[in-house]
Amino acid sequence: MSKHQFTELRIPIEEDNPAIVRNEALCIKCGACRRVCEREVAVGRFYDLKSTGDNPICINCGQCANVCPTGAITERYEYPAVKEAIMDEGKLVIFSTSPSVRVGLGESFSYEPGTFLEGKMVVALRSLGANYVLDTNFSADLTIMEEAMELVKRITEKTAPLPQFTSCCPAWVKFVETFYPDLRPHISSAKSPIGMQGPTVKTYFAKQMGIDPSRIVHVAVTPCTAKKFEIRREEMNIAAKEHGIPGMRDTDYVITTRELAKWLEEDGVNFHSLQNSEYDKLMGTASGAGVIFGNTGGVMEAAVRTTYYLATGQNLPDERINLQPVRGMDDIRSANLNISGVPVKIAVAHGIDNAKKIIDSVVSGKCEYDFIEVMSCRGGCIGGGGQPKTEVPLSDKVRKSRIEALYNKDSRMPLRCSHDNPEIKAVYESHYGKPGSPIAEQLLHTTYIDRSGDLGPEGMVDKSFVSPPKYRCAPCGHIHSGAILENFTCPACGVSKDDFIGRKFGSKRGTMSCTKKVTEDLIWVGANDRRLGIFESVYSVPNGVSYNSYLLMDEKTVLMDTVDRAVQDKFLENVEATLAGRDLDYFVVQHMEPDHSAVTKQVLQQYPNAKLVCNETILQYIKQFFDFDADSRVHLVKEGDTLRTGRHLLHFVFAPMVHWPEVMVTYDSTDKILFSADGFGCFGALNGAIFADEVDFAKDYMDEARRYYTNIVGKYGPYVEELLAKASTLEINMICPLHGFVWRKDLGDFISKYVHWCTYEPEEQGVMIAYASVYGNTEQAAEILASRLRDKGIQTQMFDVSFTAGSDIISACFKWSHLVFATTTYNSGIFVTMDALLNDLAAHNIQNRSVFAIENGTWSPFSGELVYKKFEQCKDIRFPKNMISIKSSLRMEQLSEIDAMVEAIRDTLPESAGGTIKS
Ligand SMILES: Cc1cc2nc3c(=O)[nH]c(=O)nc-3n(C[C@H](O)[C@H](O)[C@H](O)COP(=O)(O)O)c2cc1C
Ligand code: SF4
Ligand code: SF4
Ligand code: SF4
Repeated sequence: MSKHQFTELRIPIEEDNPAIVRNEALCIKCGACRRVCEREVAVGRFYDLKSTGDNPICINCGQCANVCPTGAITERYEYPAVKEAIMDEGKLVIFSTSPSVRVGLGESFSYEPGTFLEGKMVVALRSLGANYVLDTNFSADLTIMEEAMELVKRITEKTAPLPQFTSCCPAWVKFVETFYPDLRPHISSAKSPIGMQGPTVKTYFAKQMGIDPSRIVHVAVTPCTAKKFEIRREEMNIAAKEHGIPGMRDTDYVITTRELAKWLEEDGVNFHSLQNSEYDKLMGTASGAGVIFGNTGGVMEAAVRTTYYLATGQNLPDERINLQPVRGMDDIRSANLNISGVPVKIAVAHGIDNAKKIIDSVVSGKCEYDFIEVMSCRGGCIGGGGQPKTEVPLSDKVRKSRIEALYNKDSRMPLRCSHDNPEIKAVYESHYGKPGSPIAEQLLHTTYIDRSGDLGPEGMVDKSFVSPPKYRCAPCGHIHSGAILENFTCPACGVSKDDFIGRKFGSKRGTMSCTKKVTEDLIWVGANDRRLGIFESVYSVPNGVSYNSYLLMDEKTVLMDTVDRAVQDKFLENVEATLAGRDLDYFVVQHMEPDHSAVTKQVLQQYPNAKLVCNETILQYIKQFFDFDADSRVHLVKEGDTLRTGRHLLHFVFAPMVHWPEVMVTYDSTDKILFSADGFGCFGALNGAIFADEVDFAKDYMDEARRYYTNIVGKYGPYVEELLAKASTLEINMICPLHGFVWRKDLGDFISKYVHWCTYEPEEQGVMIAYASVYGNTEQAAEILASRLRDKGIQTQMFDVSFTAGSDIISACFKWSHLVFATTTYNSGIFVTMDALLNDLAAHNIQNRSVFAIENGTWSPFSGELVYKKFEQCKDIRFPKNMISIKSSLRMEQLSEIDAMVEAIRDTLPESAGGTIKS
């Protein structure tokens, strides 16, 4: 029995973890911490508690704290101890600040992400009682001097194996020590900037300033929780050895950017009103190379600048100083360099999961790189586990803003290279001699230990291949991995297995999914229904129907609508499988008709962090259809509002009455995709295809598309026209409707069909003949009419309204230019099926047609008059000839009336369609 609770749901955290702590009272068991640790950080999936003796493995990166939505996980606070040290008159408190703090701190005080606030930060520390404020960027330069020299020696003198890995990320170092101890010789022996700053403060700075080192309390202010572990590594006490002062640490405390902000708030410091201050001298000057240490690729770029200098005796020319190939946010970036005739291959990875790919190549002997930078946190230290939680989870947009601020600062600095920093020159001159000297080796370099024993007898396991089915508890959100047995109860809240929503015991959920890739990061997660006889209780769907929903897998995940209740299990399975352990960030509801919104409540229950994105009317309808607290989840949008999800930018465009009043559509301006709600849909299941160009759409589906349009949105032509007008201003590469196929080719052809339909322009010149006949006499008259029309080369299509579904006939009415309705008089009215059809047709607002009637009655025929009346409210309906009136059966002498009707039709048709109108 594990001492850790809910381990199937949360990442376990040991009580004595030096970097992070969990406040049980705040934990809502959302699983975000486990997901990030297993998938991005990669640690959580490589060990087994049973093997480790119930001891969690942790590299102290703090990413779990960053994603924890409630603040249950935080860094272990050290600022109270620093406050105490400040109060102690016998102590002298020296702060050293890391590069990323100055571009993150402001976000805690409502500054825009990436605002560079170095001067304010320094003065803030002074206001809290700092005796000195130094810059860890100084030691970033120092690290580069040592690390670059080491690389040159590895390459030229083969002093140690290649590739050389950077060592400034303690989380990365601990990962190697634990999981790949054999690779330790590859890690640069140069300490991290904080690892160098501590002993340099307590030896060089103390000596130069005439300070008793035993009085110094050295505090690192960092974006990093792993530094809390690093400063407590046994070997990080070299100053103690130098001075012979047992118990002295090189650095005494680490406080994060967040802790600093919290402290300032608690002490009532008005950050906005602070002026600027400069660092103290001796260890307060840095080059641009030191500045960019804070972002992924920065250490590499800084090292290349100095390696080049060490190899050639010259600085890189200005045009080559920015090492573009290693900049950016790609998982792994690389470059081939030529340094003084020596080819050097370099690579940069951020996130351990990405670095693992490089490690595997090193282990297999296939690695081609000479020098590799690895930072555990995405984006580098600017995304560290102790940075302000400006967003949860943090987006790349914020990361990029912070990175840009550092690059901007670097580009504006007169000194861009570590070796040009005058304070670095001074420290070597008076203290360390030269890079790699014996005293530098002693104080600035270190060794690494084998921690693989922590993994226990099983060693490193890879749980990524084991994907047990998962089930979520509706009341408390607990996720259970693995089979649910008969007597299963929720370990978190105690409810029975039946409360695991959408996961009824014995259902197939959790075992199989069927999704389609629409683009690289857009997945169709809908489902087909081929058992449905009548769609929306009125439309026949002999070929089934698809309910489309799309999941955008950007930095934020976005679900577009849901599906009909009939296929909800398949849909939920698809969503979960596609998310693959990620959380759902946004759930966009475009249309509240239940065939698209039936699963709204389940989605919001299943993904408690998801924001419901919709407009006011949709919210109102949600409250009418459901009984949950939608207000607490909603992110309301107005016409034209946008939502940035990472790479994608979504624009919301309202489309009222296409097909209900609340409808909105969504335009992704990044990939030029229109999520068109009910617009551009089609009846028919997808049969394995997803794109219209994968099937013969014109032949097999166009009739279904027309039938869909006319019946679903045909009534609202002007509104569709309005939407088309809005869409015409957009560049559209793809249309993703809620039913039917996705359009990525020949969009213009399909859109022009919509233009026809919504303006009620007939698509084809020809005659639709619908008849209602009990005993066949009216039918016979219709047949004769059709036959004589064909003789004149006129296109015809006939329907028996008692047999063919009204939706098919309505669709044909929208297609053809001329409509003939032949019907018996029936109990003094129109025959029932014809009556229903005509009512429906008028309700669909049919317009701009030539209409003819043939009536039949045995004793008092007057159904023809009633047919015409049905069109009284419809616009532009022409009646070129009065009806043919039959008494029981058509007489020979009435054939001339049939011919007269044929001629009336011809007179209103162009020659090309068998008519007489010259073109
Ligand atoms: C149940 C029933 C009700 C009818 N009601 C009328 C009526 O009210 N007025 C009338 O003139 N003919 C009425 N008819 C006769 C039909 O209009 C029509 O003349 C007859 O069914 C022959 O045409 P058909 O062979 O196309 O069915 C009725 C027929 C049926 C079967
Ligand atoms: S600090 Fe990092 S390694 Fe440790 S549990 Fe959190 S995410 Fe995992
Ligand atoms: S609230 Fe979520 S992320 Fe935070 S500790 Fe609990 S399970 Fe982990
Ligand atoms: S990337 Fe930076 S912030 Fe993140 S763990 Fe490594 S050193 Fe710390």
